[in-house]
Amino acid sequence: MGNTEKHIAKLREMRSTAMLGGGQKRIDAQHERGKLTARERINLLLDEGSFHEFGMMATHSLTTFGLDKQRFLGDAVVTGFGKIDGRPVAIYAQDFTVVGGSFSELQSQKICRICDKALEAGIPIFGLGDSGGARIQEGVRSLAAYGEVFVRNVMASGVVPQISLILGPCAGGAVYSPALTDFIIMAGQAYMFLTGPEVIKTVTGEMVSAEDLGGAAVHTGTSGVAHFACETEQEGLDLAKRILSYLPQNNTENAPRFVTGDPINRADEALNALIPDGPNSPYDIRDAIEAVFDRDSFLEVQPDYAANAVVGFARMDGYSVAIIANQPCFMAGALNIDASDKIARHVRIADAYNIPIVTFVDCPGFLPGTSQEYGGVIRHGAKVLYAYCEATVPMISLITRKSFGGAHLAMSSRQMRADFAFSWPTGQVAVMGAEGAANIIFRDEIKKAADPKVREQEMIEMYREEFMNPYRAADVGQIDEVIIPSETRPRLALALEVLRNKVAQNLPRKHGLCPV
Ligand code: HXC
Repeated sequence: MGNTEKHIAKLREMRSTAMLGGGQKRIDAQHERGKLTARERINLLLDEGSFHEFGMMATHSLTTFGLDKQRFLGDAVVTGFGKIDGRPVAIYAQDFTVVGGSFSELQSQKICRICDKALEAGIPIFGLGDSGGARIQEGVRSLAAYGEVFVRNVMASGVVPQISLILGPCAGGAVYSPALTDFIIMAGQAYMFLTGPEVIKTVTGEMVSAEDLGGAAVHTGTSGVAHFACETEQEGLDLAKRILSYLPQNNTENAPRFVTGDPINRADEALNALIPDGPNSPYDIRDAIEAVFDRDSFLEVQPDYAANAVVGFARMDGYSVAIIANQPCFMAGALNIDASDKIARHVRIADAYNIPIVTFVDCPGFLPGTSQEYGGVIRHGAKVLYAYCEATVPMISLITRKSFGGAHLAMSSRQMRADFAFSWPTGQVAVMGAEGAANIIFRDEIKKAADPKVREQEMIEMYREEFMNPYRAADVGQIDEVIIPSETRPRLALALEVLRNKVAQNLPRKHGLCPV
């Protein structure tokens, strides 16, 4: 064997060792728990054979608290670059077989290295989490190490897409890096919490399981921390690829076009029957979204959180579009604190990544009540106003039914930078609902009437007749055009085409003060 051959053989041997992470026993234990290894996950996410690992030989040199016996090639994270649907991406996957995927100084250096290059090159970053948090044996080193990653997350925010998958425990400091990224998918046996059940028991005496504390149902349904829950890791990885398909490589590019073959002139007669006769009867706005955009292209984001708002992505003529909608079949589509957060975030994501926004409006207004006022619905609702006012991407609104009061303004009104505002003939643009309005402005007249109940009904009808339509708003240019529901797809398709090269800019500033 020649000298070079010997070197190559040694490298091959080291690579084989590194590929085993914390060793075969740990890999078997990972599989026995029904979890995949870091490398298996990477291979499922990336195009076949496209992964190139970087940092495989990195090893720490610490000796405290037995760390000298926990020295593994590559440490507890696998990092590198590969491709998804032919697009270059950076990726890191925490390796639970190595000291529980715990976050070390070296892990941080490896992650920061690929993040820095991804940011310079303008390519998306995928993070696959499976970690017990800061490596306790490293003490403050691992805390500082987190700080380095958080800075990268923030610097990359809105510049390159960052998608996080949580595929195991994500404890302590491990939660904050995903929380700073654009999307969080929790799949398989994922859970996230800052302080674990043991700590909670010690501090508060409360007994709670890891699942009940930070399982996928908690974070996609209650806290709103995560955006998607998937049964299996495979489903989560497939979903991550699908999310990327709606996003550009970076904020200077547009998302790729995927021609679906769905004709843009397709009229959908079923839309003419979507709005029920009863003014407060529910219907599912997702039926309208599905009918209007390219077939099977709608991906709902945060489907289990604040269901009174629907947000997501779809395609029109193959081009990526962000969708915001009120959902009349949940809380009548009223805006509340959680829905405001959900909408504002999605508007900002779309704006950061040059994705046009289409807003479907059927909203009776902000939800009244002390819990909302005490919870700061003014501040949270202001985020929606702020996000729309700040956005410079093409924006189109479509009123399907109610567009009352603050909601009319908040939900992408012409005055707040919507480029085009459409309404179906069933649209109702008014300061408030007819019942409330009649009882305020005709209060005396109703009180003095021979039969106040009858008079009240007459006044409600009169108000409804006058204002509960889209034409008063169209008169004054708040609505550009009243359209027949079946015409919606061709109308939106043309409007989006007209706006494709829209140029709009805000004044230079360090940054605005979004009411967080
Ligand atoms: C060092 C760790 C570790 C950690 C796990 N391990 N977490 N080692 N530092 N943070 C080790 C375990 O000792 C074990 O080693 C191996 O990884 C596998 O862990 P298990 O406990 O056997 O696995 P499991 O039963 O699945 O439990 C996983 C777990 C649990 C729930 C994550 O390990 C755990 O509670 N870890 C500590 C979580 C935590 O408190 N993290 C917060 C750190 S402080 P052996 O060799 O015994 O098999 C923090 C603050 C940062 O993160 C704040 C920044 C903002």
